Amino acid sequence: MKLYLDTARLEEIKEVVAWGVLSGITTNPSHVAKAGVRDLRGHIQEMCWLADVPISVEVVTLDADEMVAQGQEYATWSPNVVVKLPTVKAGLAAMAQITRKPVTADCEGCAHIEHCPIRERFAARSALTRAPEVNATLIFSANQAMLALAAGASYVSPFVGRLDAVGEDGTKLVADIAQVLQAQHQPGEIIAAAMRHPLHVLDAAKAGAHIATMGYAILAQMLQHPLTDQGLADFMADYERSRQQ
Ligand code: E4P
Repeated sequence: MKLYLDTARLEEIKEVVAWGVLSGITTNPSHVAKAGVRDLRGHIQEMCWLADVPISVEVVTLDADEMVAQGQEYATWSPNVVVKLPTVKAGLAAMAQITRKPVTADCEGCAHIEHCPIRERFAARSALTRAPEVNATLIFSANQAMLALAAGASYVSPFVGRLDAVGEDGTKLVADIAQVLQAQHQPGEIIAAAMRHPLHVLDAAKAGAHIATMGYAILAQMLQHPLTDQGLADFMADYERSRQQ
């Protein structure tokens, strides 16, 4: 299962890229606000520069036409941008339109455009012009996921932790959607979202999620084990002792 960061904080992205485990990033309007972002385009382009991975950028309107306009604009910022749309009627209509009309990622305004490895990689495949991919967000039922996939979404994001918080089973929803995809031989990837602890991530992987997106703290917790720390400290101490003999 691929691991995504759910954040708009550049320092977190930089650190996790160095770990070599990052396969993508999801943002949302709350993360953008928390990171104090003023210039969304510039910020997303900085994120692209730090991490050559798919980056979901969410629209901020309830109107279908405005969703299409915003999503198509986001898609010009980088070939790595995935348009994130809410799974409601207007969102479905926008998904259908956005995923059917090619948009060129001209990367206008990007401070790194001159020597950008992402552009070179895409240019080689003439893929700077593409029908943008969509991440359908705020999914709380398998039926919503089926509708989003029918409208053209490549990714569906069930919010596991938020379902658990109201007494429903978020992991079961991931398993249900995975079962639908398998039974229907349908393309599409499940992004298990709203992870609250490392066990959510493990359960999502076992339930068939292709991706789990989580905050930096949960990714860091996945690595933590006191026996690893103790074992490493012991090995280093023994090594130091042997050098002094
Ligand atoms: C996913 O793409 C969402 O950004 C995210 O997981 C939202 O979850 P939360 O706000 O409940 O943590």
